[in-house]
Amino acid sequence: MILINTEDIKDGMKLAKDLIDGNGNLILGKGHTLYRKHIKTILSLGFTKLYVLSPDEEELPVEEDIEILSTRNKVAALRIVHKATREAYKKVDLKQIRLQGKEILDLIENIIAELLKKDELVFNMFELKKHDDYTFFHSTSVTVLSLILGIRIGLSLDQLRQLGYGALLHDIGKTKVPKDILNKSGTLTAEEMETMKKHTIWGFEILKAQGFLPHESCLVALQHHEKLNGTGYPYSLSSAEIHLFSKITAIADVYDALTSDRPYRDALLPHLALEYLMGGGDTYFDFNLVREFMKFISIYPVGTMVELNTKEIGIVIKTYPGQSARPVVRVFFDRDKKLLPHPIDRDLTKEYTTFVTRIVEKSPF
Ligand SMILES: [Fe+2]
Repeated sequence: MILINTEDIKDGMKLAKDLIDGNGNLILGKGHTLYRKHIKTILSLGFTKLYVLSPDEEELPVEEDIEILSTRNKVAALRIVHKATREAYKKVDLKQIRLQGKEILDLIENIIAELLKKDELVFNMFELKKHDDYTFFHSTSVTVLSLILGIRIGLSLDQLRQLGYGALLHDIGKTKVPKDILNKSGTLTAEEMETMKKHTIWGFEILKAQGFLPHESCLVALQHHEKLNGTGYPYSLSSAEIHLFSKITAIADVYDALTSDRPYRDALLPHLALEYLMGGGDTYFDFNLVREFMKFISIYPVGTMVELNTKEIGIVIKTYPGQSARPVVRVFFDRDKKLLPHPIDRDLTKEYTTFVTRIVEKSPF
């Protein structure tokens, strides 16, 4: 499986991952052969990256359990966030907004159960998303990232639920920010920024009015932009005043935002986003949480094309938790960039002198 830019898709390549839109609709299923008309649709929908099968996989089934969340739970999450967002847009009075309680509680229950079943919790893939579906995918990714971090630091099942509800709905207050401010590609004026900051308070009020959400979950909406050194918003709280679940969600929120394409900049690669989080360790973010977070994020997610210090080029086919700089790389091109008749797997946890030197952006296939 290779992650490629959509403009590099060639006629006859096969899709290696379900393509879903922000409403939870399946656009094309994995295994689908891409012909010109599909490629045109994919480009017109605004997808910038895609997973396709690598040449050696043509006859092999696509690996099932590499994705952290099943398509079923992902689709359910996207639909629920979509519905909640629509409802919140519709009602002028925040207190009149009614979110689907049972659906939300069930969804978080299912996601937690799915994550707890996994032996290895590694965040190993890019989410394939269209620009305008950012909000829905973002809420889903932030929920999954927050819950993995919560599991790794040993939260109880009940705490995970509270964290999950809050993470899923952390930005619901943005539905009350005027669209021209929300979608502005330039810098916000001071006044616009003040309005933007209010999404935290509005979110808290919306969640509080539901009645079925624990206080800790509502706090996530209120506090996910607070920073440990007191420079965050809306209340410039200090570290001791910020709830643990808000600190967790803040890290997941920033990481997912940085690794997503935005109207004003392209997505950062995982190692650069992690570097940003590390730079903010203990000033913006909780250092211990960031350190734990880094352990389950793959620096070179499966499907990434990389060059090794041997000058060979290959695709990451496996990563190990806690050792994400040393993945298993399936080498397709030798040091002279000639295609090998049979690919060779190099496990960098065993080949100590071999390491990744760069990510290859332009597919040589
Ligand atoms: Fe936010």
